[in-house]
Amino acid sequence: MLPRRDFIRTGLTGATALLVSKYSRLALHAAEASDSRIEILPEEVLGTISPNVYGHFTENLGGVIYDGIWVGEDSKIPNINGIRTELVNEMRKIKAPAVRFPGGCFADSYDWKDGVGPAGNRPRRTNFWGDGEAPDGQTSHKYDPNRFGTNEFAHFCKLIGAEPYLAANLRSLPAEDFYRWVEYCNSPAGTTTLADLRAAGGSAEPFNVKYWGVGNESWGCGGNFTPEEYAVEFRRYTTWVPRYGQKLAFIGSGPNDDSWNWTRGFFEELVKKGRGEIRSIWGWALHYYAWNMSRGRTTNWVEGKGEALKFDTVDWYEILRQGDVMESLIQGHWQIMGENDPEHHVKLVVDEWGPWYRPGSELTPHDQLEQMITLRDAVFSGATLDTFNRHPEKVAMAACAQLINCLNSLYLAHEDRFCVTPVGHVFGMYAAHQGGQAVRTEFSAPNVSYDRDGKATTFWGLKGSASLHGKDLVLTVVNPHLSETRATEISVRGVRFKSGSATTLTNSDIHAHNTFTERDAVAPLTKNVEANTKVLAYTFPPASVTKLAITLE
Ligand code: AHR
Repeated sequence: MLPRRDFIRTGLTGATALLVSKYSRLALHAAEASDSRIEILPEEVLGTISPNVYGHFTENLGGVIYDGIWVGEDSKIPNINGIRTELVNEMRKIKAPAVRFPGGCFADSYDWKDGVGPAGNRPRRTNFWGDGEAPDGQTSHKYDPNRFGTNEFAHFCKLIGAEPYLAANLRSLPAEDFYRWVEYCNSPAGTTTLADLRAAGGSAEPFNVKYWGVGNESWGCGGNFTPEEYAVEFRRYTTWVPRYGQKLAFIGSGPNDDSWNWTRGFFEELVKKGRGEIRSIWGWALHYYAWNMSRGRTTNWVEGKGEALKFDTVDWYEILRQGDVMESLIQGHWQIMGENDPEHHVKLVVDEWGPWYRPGSELTPHDQLEQMITLRDAVFSGATLDTFNRHPEKVAMAACAQLINCLNSLYLAHEDRFCVTPVGHVFGMYAAHQGGQAVRTEFSAPNVSYDRDGKATTFWGLKGSASLHGKDLVLTVVNPHLSETRATEISVRGVRFKSGSATTLTNSDIHAHNTFTERDAVAPLTKNVEANTKVLAYTFPPASVTKLAITLE
């Protein structure tokens, strides 16, 4: 790539430039001023981006369910059978493909039978997260009223057009309860006592739940197993589960970040009964939270966390650097899975991901694990979704943790107030990738350089992903640099651009965020792109996420 001043020196004079057409002038401008390049290789298809990669996670934790999703049928807050209408409307816009429920750690303490049958008869239970609730927090967060159970969750999924993904309790309920829950959800109308109970709860027709998590974080809150012990349990829980004509997809409780031994130990033990056992598992869950902002000073889970709102420029790059680890986790666990599953029958399901900051930035006081979502988290999330898009053959499903009033939330809500966070906007922009053919895309840009406690450090300068729906190209790009634009030449090998649009999410304040009173402080802006050219010149603003949606010739 030529340095900028060489481009200028070789440029045409003003008079000559007047003779060239408007569109070739654009291309010429790109050749003169660019410092970066993106080349899309449409012939090199990586695979189909599963819509489920854009999935969500809803745990019965803090304000996620009660207040976030469920407001109650008698509430003055607009609702559809008790479910917050504004949330339903927003989730339809982003084409939410799948939702995981009821946990998280909560799942391995949950008895699904408490959440079915007449609402008035349902028991109140101490929530798994109850001890973490403030004394003056909401009662429904400490003592689970079980008002939002299986039928309500399935109804929520139906309203937004998403697949339900249920996480079953492996730590504290027997295997029988697992297959009875499957029976409750999937046995045909009128066939079983549980189908009748489901009908009494408002749904004669089966829910046809395909995705079933078999425990959650079974190395920790989900039972404190060794990987070998868990593999034995997994086999037991998934053997001879009734199908009811449904191709059930069992998801094993996978590792936390780089616990390679958990993945290796599980798969080695699983296949001890024979190679065919690989067919019993559809997905392997990976959880990864970016949390340690101490720059190597500690590995303590509490002390190592950073602030959601008060951060400096180094913290900006550090959380992105941590998010970038997702790439190596996908590669690493995939490789280990391949040792016992060389045909890669089992796919990765990244069903908890996002940054995790220390408490103190909650928009609704006392909402446990709620944190404020800034532009930084939007950039983090764009980069993470791009990572998934670049591995469509490996990542079959994912769930951002968590949907509302929690960690990397798309929405914040309290009583009748609601807002879409910058992360919610990223999901809106990236929805266009769902079901597209991911194609190899080369990025070349100057690295970001910054001072990390006296040490010069670098981070990538531009990254993203591209997918094709026929002749419609979707290119998403993250510019992590806090102050520099990236003037970029974009080309699709062997093809001309026609026309399209560019949607950008950014703000001059890196701490910018949306609240109940300033709902649109961070919102995407869309403009048309005249692109009748072979090389498209586009300048990516600093600290931004951009989607280019362009029709090709
Ligand atoms: O998302 C919050 C918690 O983080 C989940 O319950 C658990 O699975 C993970 O450790």
